[in-house]
Amino acid sequence: MIADPTYRGFALDADTALALLQWQAEMGADEPCLDTPLDRYDLPDRAGAAPAPEPAAPPVTKPRDEAKDLVAHAETLASAATTLAELATAQESFDGIELKKGARNFCFCDGNPTARVMIIGEAPGEEEDRLGRPFVGRAGQLLDLMFGAIGLSREAVDAERALYITNVLTWRPPGNRRPEPAEIAMMLPFLTRHVELVQPQVLVLMGNTPCIAALNQQGILKLRGKWTTAFGLPTLPMAHPAYLLRTPLAKRDAWADLLSLAAKLEG
Ligand code: URA
Repeated sequence: MIADPTYRGFALDADTALALLQWQAEMGADEPCLDTPLDRYDLPDRAGAAPAPEPAAPPVTKPRDEAKDLVAHAETLASAATTLAELATAQESFDGIELKKGARNFCFCDGNPTARVMIIGEAPGEEEDRLGRPFVGRAGQLLDLMFGAIGLSREAVDAERALYITNVLTWRPPGNRRPEPAEIAMMLPFLTRHVELVQPQVLVLMGNTPCIAALNQQGILKLRGKWTTAFGLPTLPMAHPAYLLRTPLAKRDAWADLLSLAAKLEG
C-alpha cells in the first residue's frame, strides 16, 4: 500500500500514508493484510483442538479458614499467659484484628485485679482510646457513680469494695461502631483467660456485646437483672451506662440491678 504512490486514485505521499497507518492502529487494527490470500475456512478446526492447558490456579484460602486460624492463634497466645501482665503483652501483640491499625491506644483494664466484681463492657470509645483505659468517658463517669452508690469503686484498694473493669474489645472500633461477630470471636480467648486470671467472685456484663461474647445471647433489655452463669461464675447482665444516658427512665431498672448485685455480695 505504501509502495503504491496512489490510493484509490488519490496520490499518497509517505507522510500521509504513515499518518493513515497510525490512525488505523489507534482504531484497533492490529494485523496487516498478508501478501497472499489466506482461506481461513481451510484452517485446522480450532474447536476440535485440545484446549491449551490453563495456568495453575493459586491455592485458595477461604476467608472463614483465615478467621479460624486467627482465633486459634489468639487461643494459643492467651492460654500461654500465666499473669495479667503476660496476657496484656500477648493481647497487645496480636495482629489478627484490623481494629489495632486504626486505634491510638491498647485499652486492657482499669481498677483493682483483686476485686470481687469484674465489669465487662463493649469496647473503648474516643476518650478510652485517647487514654488507654476503659470507661473513662461520659459513660464511664456514670458507671463510677452507679457503682459508687453501692459502695464499689475502681480506686478502692480493699478487694471487698473494689471494681475491676475491662472490655470485650481492647481496640476502639472506628466511629464507635458496634463490634463485629468476627472481632468478638477473635478477642474471646483473651477475655476468657482474663476472667480466669482475675478470678472474680461475680461478673457484670454491661450491654449487649459482652452478653454476645460471654453468653452467646443478646437482647439486653430482657437479659438485664437476671442472674446467670458465664465463664463458670455468677453473672449479672445490666443495661450499658451509655444507654442509661440516652434513656434516663431505664435508670430505675439499673438501680434495682445494682441492689441485686449488692445483695449477692452481702450473701
Ligand atoms: N463503653 C464501653 O463499653 N467501654 C468503654 O470502655 C467505654 C464505653
